[in-house]
Amino acid sequence: MRRARDIGPLLVLTALAACTSNHAALNPAGPRAQGIASLLLLFCAVSSVVYLTVIGALVWSLLRRRRQVGPPDGERRREQQSWRLIGTGIALTVVTLITLALADFVVQRRLSAHPADAMRIVLTGHQYWWEVEYDEEDPSQRVRTANEIHIPVGRPVEFVLTSRDVIHSFWLPSLMGKKDLIPGHTNTEVVIASRPGIFTGQCAEFCGLQHAQMRLTLTVETPQDFERWRQHQLSEGSPPASESERHGQTVFMSASCILCHTIAGTPAGATVGPDLTHLASRGTIAAGTLANTPANLASWILEPQRVKPGAMMPATSLPPQDLAALTMYLGSLR
Ligand code: CUA
Repeated sequence: MRRARDIGPLLVLTALAACTSNHAALNPAGPRAQGIASLLLLFCAVSSVVYLTVIGALVWSLLRRRRQVGPPDGERRREQQSWRLIGTGIALTVVTLITLALADFVVQRRLSAHPADAMRIVLTGHQYWWEVEYDEEDPSQRVRTANEIHIPVGRPVEFVLTSRDVIHSFWLPSLMGKKDLIPGHTNTEVVIASRPGIFTGQCAEFCGLQHAQMRLTLTVETPQDFERWRQHQLSEGSPPASESERHGQTVFMSASCILCHTIAGTPAGATVGPDLTHLASRGTIAAGTLANTPANLASWILEPQRVKPGAMMPATSLPPQDLAALTMYLGSLR
């Protein structure tokens, strides 16, 4: 009993947090998400009314039946009344279903509109991370990053979704519904954020052992801040500034790292794993699994399977000195 009392406030707090965070379908941050949230609330309200009406009618009929036990009187009148009730019930059901279908149609229509001036971002799903490429006609203007996306506030963004391996699903609860990333196929989804903030997202389709550790963040910022971020991301990786960082770069180029990752401005140009050109500018590593700190980076390089069993990142055993230099170099890639 006491336990239930303790859990009650906790549940209320959790529910409040779930409805007010930047990871909540009930806390929409854009006109499209607002449409989905309104539709959800409408369906919940109508379903609640229908449920209460049905239960009310059931209780009423049981009580009435009990009262009416005895010799039948006015049989005909009661039958007429019953038919009237059944007719009203069917008519109300039809009207309710048509109203809900129309509301759904209106929202879907609004969601399927694709503004011509939208910025395009190609989002490719991998087990278990997100490859992000800003689509520009000029290849030199294409920002490439992973797991952490930046967009300007108010500007429509069209995500072009595909996958390199299995089916994943892109979901930013406060900004959009779920949309699948399918190998060999592209889907599109438009996102418009009407307020700045950091929004979290999650892969929403079971895609393997580390499905739950396939997170992403969307930073919505002012157009000026976005442009500053974009210009910085377009630059090459900063060259090593100290002896340790130089040693770290040598370790990167001679160990297995170079086989999977890109660092612009160096010989590393593989695209199997995330682009690391500006790794240190990201808040997390391993798709939101760990905070981006030197200690976490070192343990991720040494034993990725301990952190994220089933992830595609292979273990790299390095002597402590090389590992320290490597993390120092990666930490300098701002
Ligand atoms: Cu990717 Cu679940």
